[in-house]
Amino acid sequence: MKLSFIGMGNMAYAILKGGCTAGFFDTNAVFAFDINQKRLTEVAAETGIHPCGSAAQAAEQADIVLLAVKPHIVPAVLEELGDTLQNKAVLSIASGWTTQRLQAALPAAARAMFTLPNTPCMVGAGMVLGEDNHTFTPAEFDFVNGMFHSMGKLILVPPAMMNGAGTVTGCGPAFFYLIMEALADGAVTFGVPRQMAYDLVAQTAMGAGKMLLDTQMHPGQLKDAVCSPGGTTIRGIRALEDAGVRAAMFDALDAAGKNA
Ligand SMILES: NC(=O)c1ccc[n+]([C@@H]2O[C@H](COP(=O)([O-])OP(=O)(O)OC[C@H]3O[C@@H](n4cnc5c(N)ncnc54)[C@H](OP(=O)(O)O)[C@@H]3O)[C@@H](O)[C@H]2O)c1
Repeated sequence: MKLSFIGMGNMAYAILKGGCTAGFFDTNAVFAFDINQKRLTEVAAETGIHPCGSAAQAAEQADIVLLAVKPHIVPAVLEELGDTLQNKAVLSIASGWTTQRLQAALPAAARAMFTLPNTPCMVGAGMVLGEDNHTFTPAEFDFVNGMFHSMGKLILVPPAMMNGAGTVTGCGPAFFYLIMEALADGAVTFGVPRQMAYDLVAQTAMGAGKMLLDTQMHPGQLKDAVCSPGGTTIRGIRALEDAGVRAAMFDALDAAGKNA
């Protein structure tokens, strides 16, 4: 399958980088157009993909066209591409450009799929959500499934779940970065050097995530196993509860999910 990126910004680059590192992409079969030709040239030189001079040139080459521009740019791109998308598979990662909305804007024979990746795709730890009402052929879906699994996980969900689940996976990394930065600040007050503090926090966060995934235990059970009676951890948990950390998580998701 030949893949063309329309837009080579932060998220497209994360997908490209993740897939290249995993050895998934045959970069000879990957094309891209970005309005910022300087950036595109740099990415092409780094990865070996084909840079294109227009969106139409990129789309013509492709079996699957990956729309990776900001949502408000999508209408102009679709209008410019017009019948070039006839019989293509169009993969949207643009927030709000759902399968249903995209399908309605495409030529009749084109197929549509909406996915929400996150930036950890770049390091092989992405969490990607895809709408289960996509109209891709089995071969097109196999490619997308293989691509995202090469850089993390892809889970298909009903369209109605995309907003809530996508807020967790899309915004979640930033929430965790804030918590990790704060934990590292705390470590520094104990005299831990700054870089070491970040390393300790990151490995600890990764370990906690892996424990949850690998054991499939309830997070409360895992927390209990770290909290010995009368011990230090339970005193820290008490401080977190006093600070309203649980309510803050509800509020953060609520605030972030509202305009999605
Ligand atoms: N970042 C994330 O974590 C994330 C997660 C999930 C989904 N997404 C979605 O991914 C899409 C891209 O987000 P991003 O964060 O990667 O944004 P970004 O870094 O701004 O990337 C968009 C790229 O598209 C270029 N562009 C603008 N107009 C164009 C046109 N007409 N044709 C081709 N390229 C054009 C931009 O160039 P200029 O900068 O010169 O305008 C920029 O290089 C968005 O729709 C967003 O909803 C992002």
